[in-house]
Formats: sequence, C-alpha cells, structure tokens
Amino acid sequence: MCGIIGILGKRPVSGAILDALRRLEYRGYDSAGIATINRGEIDRRRASGKLGNLAELLKTDPLPGDVGIGHTRWATHGPPVEKNAHPHATERVAVVHNGIIENYAELRAELSKAGRVFESDTDTESIAHLLTHLLDQGLDAEVAMAEAMKRFDGAFAFCALIKDRPDLLLVARRGSALAIGLGEGESYIGSDAVGLAPLTRRIVYLEEGDWAAVRREGVTIRDRKGAVVERRETLTEVSGDVVGKGNHRHYMEKEIHEQPEVIGDTLGYYYNPVRRRIVLPPLPFDITKVPRITIIAAGTSFYSGLLAKYWLERIGRLSVEVDIASEFRYRQPEMPVGGVALFISQSGETLDTLEALRYAKSQGQTIVSLVNVPDSSMAREADLCLRTYAGPEIGVASTKAFTTQLAVLACLTLHLAREHGKLSSEQMAIYADQLIRLPALAAETLGLADAMQALAQEIAPARDVLYLGRGASYPIAMEGALKLKEISYIHAEGYAAGEMKHGPIALIADGVPVIVIAPSDELFAKTVSNLQEVLARGGRAIVLTDTEGAEKLKGTKAHVFTVPKAEPLVAPILFTLPIQLMAYYVAVAKGNDVDQPRNLAKSVTVE
Ligand code: G6P
Repeated sequence: MCGIIGILGKRPVSGAILDALRRLEYRGYDSAGIATINRGEIDRRRASGKLGNLAELLKTDPLPGDVGIGHTRWATHGPPVEKNAHPHATERVAVVHNGIIENYAELRAELSKAGRVFESDTDTESIAHLLTHLLDQGLDAEVAMAEAMKRFDGAFAFCALIKDRPDLLLVARRGSALAIGLGEGESYIGSDAVGLAPLTRRIVYLEEGDWAAVRREGVTIRDRKGAVVERRETLTEVSGDVVGKGNHRHYMEKEIHEQPEVIGDTLGYYYNPVRRRIVLPPLPFDITKVPRITIIAAGTSFYSGLLAKYWLERIGRLSVEVDIASEFRYRQPEMPVGGVALFISQSGETLDTLEALRYAKSQGQTIVSLVNVPDSSMAREADLCLRTYAGPEIGVASTKAFTTQLAVLACLTLHLAREHGKLSSEQMAIYADQLIRLPALAAETLGLADAMQALAQEIAPARDVLYLGRGASYPIAMEGALKLKEISYIHAEGYAAGEMKHGPIALIADGVPVIVIAPSDELFAKTVSNLQEVLARGGRAIVLTDTEGAEKLKGTKAHVFTVPKAEPLVAPILFTLPIQLMAYYVAVAKGNDVDQPRNLAKSVTVE
C-alpha cells in the first residue's frame, strides 16, 4: 500500500505534492513526508499520523525546492513513528516506496558492513543506501539504478531523488502499479492516476519489471532486461475534481446516501429501456462452452463475488467457484481449459487480486474484471472490463462500491443466463424490470436511517455481534459483520443461519446481539426457526425483514426492522443498506474516525 508521488516542476513543488498526497491518503495514513532538493541538499519534512500533521508542519517550516517526492504510509516494517516515515534518505538519495523489499535484511547487513548507517526499522531505507553506495563508487545515476534493480526481491514500486541530479527522478515498478504523468515542461510520478489527476491527464503506466529515468522533458523506460522500451501514453478518465462531503459529517455517510443515484447510474450503462433487457459489451467467450467461472476478490468485494455465485448458479445454471485472492493465488489450483475468471475490486489494484488475475491468465483463463477505478491495473490487464459507476469512494469502509458491484453482477447474471439459454426474453424483461426499480427502493430503504441510529445506541456497548443469513442473505450477513468490525472495532461474525447451532449458539446466553437478515423468500421459514432458537435462549434478536416478513413476525419478541418488499434478485442489495447505516452510527456513537479507521487502508497493495 502507501501512496507515492514525485514532481519535477518549474516552481516550488511541496504544495502540489501535499495536495496529491491528500488524494492518495486512501492508501494509508500512518505517517506522511516530503523531500525536495533545497539549495543543493536533500531536505525533508515528515510527521507521524494523518496527513494533517504534515500539513501543519509545513505551515511552520515550509519546504522549498522545485523537485520533490512525497509519501503517505501504511506501516509494514516498523511502527508508525516519525523515524520510519518516508522519504528515507541518505546524504545523497531520498526514496519513497510502496510494497516490500523482501531481502532488505540481507541488504542492510551487507551495506552496514560497508559502513553505511541505518536510522529506521524499514525495508525502504535499504533502497536509499544501496543507491548511495553505488553512486559513491562513481556510477552514473542510471547505471546505479540498473545495478540496484538486480538486487531487490519482492513486490514494490519506488521513486528516488538524487541530490546532485535535480533534473531527474528514478522510478521502478515490480508488482505495484506506478504511473508517470506528462506535463508542459514538468513531469509527475504517482501510485495511480488519481494522485495525479489535477496535474495532468497524460499518463504512461510502467509495466511489470520496468524502471525509468524521468526528466522534465520526457521519460526513458527500460524493461526488466534493461532494454529501452516505449510504453503507450493514455489519457486518463480520472477526474481532478475534489470530492467533498456535501452536507454530510463523513464521506461514509455521504456514500451510503449516494447509493440510489449511483446504482441508477450503473444500471443505466447496462439496461436497454427500449428492449427491456440487460446488454453487456461483447463477451470475449462463448458461455455455452465455459466449463467454470472462477470469481476471485478480497474484503467486501469477495462478498459481492459470493453473492454472485448464488445468482449465477441459480439463474444462469452455471458452475461457479469463489475464492479469496490471497488464498487462491498461493494454492495455484488447476483451472479448466476454456474457463473464465472474474476479478472484483473497487480499486482494481489490490495486490493479491491482481496477482491472482495474472495466475489465472497464465492458466489460459479468459479474464473479466469488475472495477470502480478506470485505468486501474485490473481494468488494463483484463480481456473484458466491466465498470461500476459509483464515483470515487473515499470512506475506507466500502459501501456504494459494494452495492454497485452487486448491481453489475446481477446484470452479468442475467446476460449470461440468457446467452446460456436458461432465460427466455420474457423472463429477462421481468428481471430487468425488477432491477430498474432498485434505485427507488434503495431510496425508500434509506428511510431507515433514524431507526438504525437508535439501534446503534443499543449495539455500541456490545463486545460481540452475530449476523445470520441464509442463501443470498449469507454474504450480506458477512458484509454486515465486516462493516461493523472495520469502523466500530466491535468483534462481529457473519454466519450462515443454519450453521449457528454448530457453534455460535453457545454465545447466545451472554446476551450477544444477533442480527438476523430475513427477507420473506423461500428460506424465510428456515431462518425464522433459527431466530426462534436465539429467542428460546434469551438472545437479543434483531430482525431485518421486509413488509411481508414483518407481518408474519407479528407478536415476536425480536426487535423487527422493515425493508421494502422486493424480488429475490434485488432484496440482498436493499438489505445491505440498513447494515451499513447501523455500522456507521455505531462508529459515530463510539467517537471513532469513521472514514479512516485504525490500521486499515482503502487499497491494499501489499501481500
Ligand atoms: C481493503 C478495503 C476494503 C476492500 C478491500 C478490497 O481492505 O479496506 O474496503 O473491500 O480492500 O479492495 P478492492 O479495492 O480490491 O475492492
């Protein structure tokens, strides 16, 4: 993770670097720092904690210089204190880095023996010392870089600033994305195009194993073998607009309330109102010949994949496997000839998911990605990229990205089911009509905000919370538990309701709140049986159901909250909204930093 930025400018750059770091803060916020060349010397300002601390420091102690690098950190090696904040520097070289140098201990021992003195606990510092060591031997900057690149193991991206070369930034990409922005007599480096958005739209992405010498007038890129290569310049779609919170207290609250609109925007890309059907871009495979679809993702995106499995199996009659990226990639499973692999990711950069994508590609699978960030690595490396149109999601806990993923996955299910010959055009029209009612139903469901705020006061003191659901509600139960954990720091578990009796029921006597997700579908009666088991043991049951379910539950001792009645394809998306709202209000009640919860980051680009 971590965000890196570099600017070769025509005027002082620390203000623009700070601004770019604000856009990259979603990648980590344990510490931040900037280094420039100031009157011929490397000069730095660093501060632990969120970026605001660095901004304050720069007010009292400004940092001149028209070439510089900046960093926002998610700690891997060493605690988030100032001495471990990037840039790491020697007297000649400063470095910002994302990822991990796996052989840093070996490099550190070797360079220490050669007399170099290390100051931090980080792996990054070994990059600065190795480059300095090579420069001290009289090597030219680019030759030193070529030599250094032979020594690093791991997955990383970095940017180095050299004291006596104010005309140059050296950058490398292995495993983690890196974008070079081209300007008018200026050049920029960023972890992604988001960071560079206000500076330029002209982006060149380094490819795996590349390193480059970036100057104000242009870039020389070398591939892993050292050959000079051309990489295509693209015009990024990422907008430079600053995303505000509107009238909301937090980004997460705003993003929850944006859902009806962005779900509508997203469906608008896939729904043909004239033919009342879902239309996807041409598929790079024939679904009737696909033996299996493998869905891979991490975190919240994994839960949308899990829900898609229910839909694709049930409606599309397709064979589907779902896996967590970090497990899948190291298992190196057999993948069937002619298979399709679908990668779901808000950021399109999660390293485990990206590496799993590359593995599936090496196994001859057709690659489909579903991402929210255009131009992301997963968007670029797929045979077909489907997009969610959620707009920038700033809150670290994912909300609108999840429900728009579900909207696209519902569309994908219908399209594939039709192509697979399992859905008549009449059935397609019925399902498509259900989907387009989703934005209005979502808006109605958000009317539960006050009720969820009141419920949150009851949940906030809890130590543990259980979420139960069956069928398509099971992934939603897990997403509910994850949301609560992420921002309220309350231990929570999502369970398949039928599994409760195999363990979690032992917790009920302790008064653990149990949130039961129970739409009035074909599994309702079974879920209600599990609810009765909770009540019979004196449990605090909270039921989320729809109008029909609430009618059936009249007289129950459970605390019932009512979501509008919807068809099974749409219901899981609606039931997500109250669980997001509740997690949000619990975190607010506890006084937590909702948008930047402790230890987390929005985009996880380390393994
Ligand atoms: C991080 C974020 C989660 C997100 C997960 C996967 O853990 O905090 O909100 O679900 O990464 O991210 P992706 O961008 O691949 O969907």
